[in-house]
Amino acid sequence: MKKTVIGVIGCGVISNTYLRDIKRLCPELTVKAVADALPEAAMRQKEAFDIPAACSPQELLADPEIEIAVNLTPPALHTKVNRQILEAGKHLFCEKPFALTMEDARATIALAEEKGLVIGCAPDSFLGSSLTTCKKLIDDGRIGRPLYVCMNMMSSGVETWHPKPENFYREGGGPVYDMGGYYFSALVTMFGPAESVFALGGKGFEERTIYTPERFGSVFPVEVPTHYSALIRMANGMIVNANFSFDIWKSNMPMFEVYGTEGTLEVPDPNMHGGTPKLYRKEQTLAAAYGGEDPAGGESWPVPELAQNVGTYVRFLGVKDLAAAIREGRTPRVNAHLALHVTEIMISVMESARTGQKVILETSYDPGI
Ligand SMILES: NC(=O)c1ccc[n+]([C@@H]2O[C@H](COP(=O)([O-])OP(=O)(O)OC[C@H]3O[C@@H](n4cnc5c(N)ncnc54)[C@H](O)[C@@H]3O)[C@@H](O)[C@H]2O)c1
Repeated sequence: MKKTVIGVIGCGVISNTYLRDIKRLCPELTVKAVADALPEAAMRQKEAFDIPAACSPQELLADPEIEIAVNLTPPALHTKVNRQILEAGKHLFCEKPFALTMEDARATIALAEEKGLVIGCAPDSFLGSSLTTCKKLIDDGRIGRPLYVCMNMMSSGVETWHPKPENFYREGGGPVYDMGGYYFSALVTMFGPAESVFALGGKGFEERTIYTPERFGSVFPVEVPTHYSALIRMANGMIVNANFSFDIWKSNMPMFEVYGTEGTLEVPDPNMHGGTPKLYRKEQTLAAAYGGEDPAGGESWPVPELAQNVGTYVRFLGVKDLAAAIREGRTPRVNAHLALHVTEIMISVMESARTGQKVILETSYDPGI
C-alpha cells in the first residue's frame, strides 16, 4: 500500500511525541518534511527522527507529494497556519485548540469545504483504549442511565516542565484552551452534544515563575484567567460540573467521574490514551442492606480492556484516523464538527465567566459519526 505522506509544521515540545509515535506505530504513514519558523528547530527534529527534509513552512506546503500537513504551532497561530495549509491544497490535522474564535473555526471549515479538503483535529484521546472502554461500558448500560459528570483538571500549571510556558498564560492560553478539549471531546463523544454553559473564572497569581533548568527563576506576567468552574447542561439532560485550573498545588478531586442510576464510572485521565476505568455498581453499596457482602470485595468491578493499549501518552491516533478516512472516503472520527462543538464549549466557558451570563450553544455534534 502506498504510504500517506505527511509534513509537520511546528517543531516544539509536542512534535517529539508525534514524530516518535507516527514512526513507531503508523507503518502506513511517512513524514517527509518538518518545518518551523525557526530553521534550527526543524533541523533538530530532522536529525533526531531521521526525517528526509527540514525546511520552511512555505517550502513544505509547496511540496506536491505531501498530502496532510500537521499543525503543531502555538494556539494563537493555529488559524493562520491552518489557512495556509488549506490554501496550499493539503488536508489538515491541527493540534488543539482548533481556533480561538468561532468565526475563525467556521471560516477554516468553510475553506476546507470549498477546497474539497478534510480536517482532523486533536484531541484524539477519545479513540484510545481507556475512553473507548468507558464509552462501551456506558453504551452497554453498566452504570444505568447516566445522570451527572464531575470533571476536574486541577494542576499547578506548565512552568515546571514546559521550556516556553508564556504562551499558556496569554491570549490563546489558560487551562480551558489547554486542557478543556480532552475533557469535552471525551464528554460529547460519550454522551452527545452539550446545550448550555455557565461558568465563573479567576486568576490566582498575577505572575508565574519558570522552574525548568535553562530559565529557572525567571518571572513573567499572567494575562488570562487561570481557574474556571463551569456547569454544563447536556442535550440529553445530564448535568456536568467541571473545574479547570492552573492554580492548584494538590487536589483529591476526581479527574472524571460519571454517575448513573446503576453505578459510578471512574474515567481515566482523558489526556491519556490508556488507563483502566473503574466501575462501581449499586449492588456493592446495597450489599450491607441485604445482609450480604460487596460482591467486588470493596474494589472496583472488573472491566475488560476493549481496545489495544498502545501506551498511556501517545499522539498519533488522530493523524492515523484522518489518513484512513481520506483513503476510505469517510468522515474522520476526529472531524471538524467535533472540533467546532468542542471549541464552542471551551469558548463559552470563558465567555460565560467574563460576562456572568449563561451561554446557549449554537453548534451540536453527532457522536454516531
Ligand atoms: N506540549 C505539550 O505537551 C502539548 C501536548 C498536547 C498538545 N499540545 C499542543 O501542541 C501545540 C504546540 O505546543 P508545543 O508545546 O509543542 O509548543 P512549543 O512552543 O514548544 O512549539 C511550537 C513551535 O512552533 C514554532 N512556530 C511558531 N510559529 C510558527 C509558524 N508560523 N510556522 C511554523 N512554526 C512556527 C515555534 O518556533 C516552536 O518551535 C499547541 O497547540 C499545544 O496546545 C502541546
